[in-house]
Amino acid sequence: MTRRISLTQYLIEQQREHGHIPQELRLLIEVVARACKRIAISVNKGALGDILGTAGSENVQGEVQKKLDIIANEVLIEANEWGGHLAAMASEEMDDIYAVPNRYPQGEYLLLFDPLDGSSNIDVNVSIGTIFSVLRKVNNARGVSADDFLQPGKQQAAAGYCLYGPQTMLVLTVGDGVAMFTLDREQGSFVLTEENVRVPEDTQEFAINMSNQRHWDAPMHRYIGECLDGADGPRGKNFNMRWIASMVTDVHRILMRGGIFMYPWDKRDPGKPGKLRLLYEANPMSFLIEQAGGASTNGRQRIMALTPTQLHERVAVVLGSKNEVERVTAYHLEHD
Ligand code: AHG
Ligand code: MN
Ligand code: MN
Ligand code: MN
Repeated sequence: MTRRISLTQYLIEQQREHGHIPQELRLLIEVVARACKRIAISVNKGALGDILGTAGSENVQGEVQKKLDIIANEVLIEANEWGGHLAAMASEEMDDIYAVPNRYPQGEYLLLFDPLDGSSNIDVNVSIGTIFSVLRKVNNARGVSADDFLQPGKQQAAAGYCLYGPQTMLVLTVGDGVAMFTLDREQGSFVLTEENVRVPEDTQEFAINMSNQRHWDAPMHRYIGECLDGADGPRGKNFNMRWIASMVTDVHRILMRGGIFMYPWDKRDPGKPGKLRLLYEANPMSFLIEQAGGASTNGRQRIMALTPTQLHERVAVVLGSKNEVERVTAYHLEHD
């Protein structure tokens, strides 16, 4: 049974005993966790709060923003801008970075987030989440720009997500494995319920949006075709499929029981490497998956080794059980 300690105690242990994180990072993570509790309150109101439906505006991704996309974004900005831990923030829902106003002290960290992941599930009461990533501001020159955020994922100081599902759970890594916390609503705090999470190296469960099958490249046709051929085919085993359309829920399932998640390049928009965003979706999820013994590539290269060239850069994603990710990656490299 995992010892039932609070997020604060876990973080203080990481700070004091493991020397893994400085106090500033601990305090930043606690602010993000408090902001996620605020978002959970709005999520749980549903139709009883003015949080469903679209906001009528479009974000830099070209997506129609949901009211909750904007609410969650504002909660994270307001909770984090005054604490003194950050120099700036970047979000799926904001065109440019948000530099901490001069009236507040500037910190050494950069916070990136997808404030509401799985927006297409909001109005149909399917689990959604918030994804966050923490980088250090490496150049000490005064001021901050979008270029400060263009760091490979392997330089993240911390990453995690909050899953607004049957339980509200915070899943976190500070580079010392993956820990999971469940929100105890009676005391209003996140309580440790899993630590040292491990992703099984093999799986019989894949996650992909099959409706895009006709648009995929040959290696994806080969891999998924073999999964669908099942026990009579070259894999010699049957596969199950799951696709929730909230990355946080598919990744959470994989952290809990294994699996492989894929959002590959497809020919609908050949210039786009994939749908998912590198800085605040693929990188934080890759950090968690790798810290739990899984793997994460763009089909050819380790995602966390990629150096971004722009804030909202997209990337193809193949992540989860190590042996399956390696197989899909091998198929892509053989095909090139
Ligand atoms: P977001 O709601 O933050 O825009 O992200 C949605 C992403 C991801 O959460 C999910 O895995 C994927 O989009 C689903 O895409 P499809 O709707 O094309 O299946
Ligand atoms: Mn998302
Ligand atoms: Mn989003
Ligand atoms: Mn979106």
